Amino acid sequence: MTTVEDTDVLALEERHTAHNYAPLPVVAAAAEGAWITDTHGRRYLDCLAAYSAVNFGHRHPAVIAAAHAQLDRVTLVSRAFHSDRLGPFCAALARLCGKDMVLPMNSGAEAVESGMKVARKWGTDVKGVPAGQANIVVAQNNFHGRTISIVSFSSDDSARGGFGPFTPGFRAVPFGDAAAVADAIDDFTVAVLLEPIQGEAGIIVPPADYLPRVREICTANNVLMIADEIQSGLARTGYTFACDHWGVVPDVYLLGKALGGGVLPLSAVVADRDVLGVLHPGEHGSTFGGNPLAAAIGATVVGLLETGEFQRRSALLGARLHDRLQALTGDGVLAVRGLGLWAGVDIDPALGTGKQISLRLAQRGVLVKDTHGSTLRFAPPLVITEDEIDWAVAQFASVLHDAAVDGDLRS
Ligand SMILES: Cc1ncc(COP(=O)(O)O)c(C=O)c1O
Repeated sequence: MTTVEDTDVLALEERHTAHNYAPLPVVAAAAEGAWITDTHGRRYLDCLAAYSAVNFGHRHPAVIAAAHAQLDRVTLVSRAFHSDRLGPFCAALARLCGKDMVLPMNSGAEAVESGMKVARKWGTDVKGVPAGQANIVVAQNNFHGRTISIVSFSSDDSARGGFGPFTPGFRAVPFGDAAAVADAIDDFTVAVLLEPIQGEAGIIVPPADYLPRVREICTANNVLMIADEIQSGLARTGYTFACDHWGVVPDVYLLGKALGGGVLPLSAVVADRDVLGVLHPGEHGSTFGGNPLAAAIGATVVGLLETGEFQRRSALLGARLHDRLQALTGDGVLAVRGLGLWAGVDIDPALGTGKQISLRLAQRGVLVKDTHGSTLRFAPPLVITEDEIDWAVAQFASVLHDAAVDGDLRS
């Protein structure tokens, strides 16, 4: 936690950094594997993993080696020229996804924006939707990022307030309700865009028949199914993609976060040629998208995923995490949801807010993130060990116990 020596660093942030976050008072100085070390050498078990961007652990040796090697060769040429890294990366990622083509971008929000642009273009060029008439069906309580078009279909008032006017062309229906998706589709619908498991909403796993039915509905109506696997994908839930739990193959994968190996932003739209082939030179782009450094790292990340090791770890260790957390039900925990090493834990609001419990946990050396008042998210790097899981949950149990003894932490 912070001490006097950290005051300067925090004062600079307070004064010169936009206040669009409210971080816990932990000042990271170094990190390795599942652990973050602060400026005073205190270690914290990272149970957030940068919202799944650090799935393979902080500074995974293979990723760091690939980055170092590429730093010594070439880092950025823009797409005005070719690089010897882009093709191999795209081929490897397309193979991992079982698709033909990759559109590389940087942030997750850019992948979502790009996916929506591709869907609209496909709608116009292939489906025959009149220009400017396309609509996209989305789920309520979604989280797909922060651009104006994306917050245009957010249900979160704080994400939208003051940011209008918004982009038209979206229809939001309840998450988990396939019939509502079918009802919302009309002749001008080009895509259904979903998180297979809603992350920011609190790790909401849909009913078992939901994604298979959405898949059928999309196919029957000639509508693209776009799965935003930016947080749920790349081994987080025990499979390469969360969609794999239900045997569902979307038309378009949106990937980000862990694709950059925890080193840099790297995102992608991945689809077959009949979809991504609608883009022609000049119609879309990004200066840094697919740069050689990102491509070298991305190819290494795909290599890690191809071993299957991280998917196995997430499934096995996730079962342990869920068991341990479930055991706290009734002792300050109201409900536990999720799959693999991804758990949303509703805590008894009488014990304090999620933020207060997170602060107490940080004081005990475990970093988590609250969402929606009294839900905590546990999403550790997939390199976490069984003992570390047990230790983290033991700290959580102690915090809940202390909160119950101390009374409402909000007072
Ligand atoms: C499902 C999902 N989509 C998109 C995004 C946006 O990613 P980024 O913050 O890299 O723009 C996020 C970020 O949390 C996300 O969870």
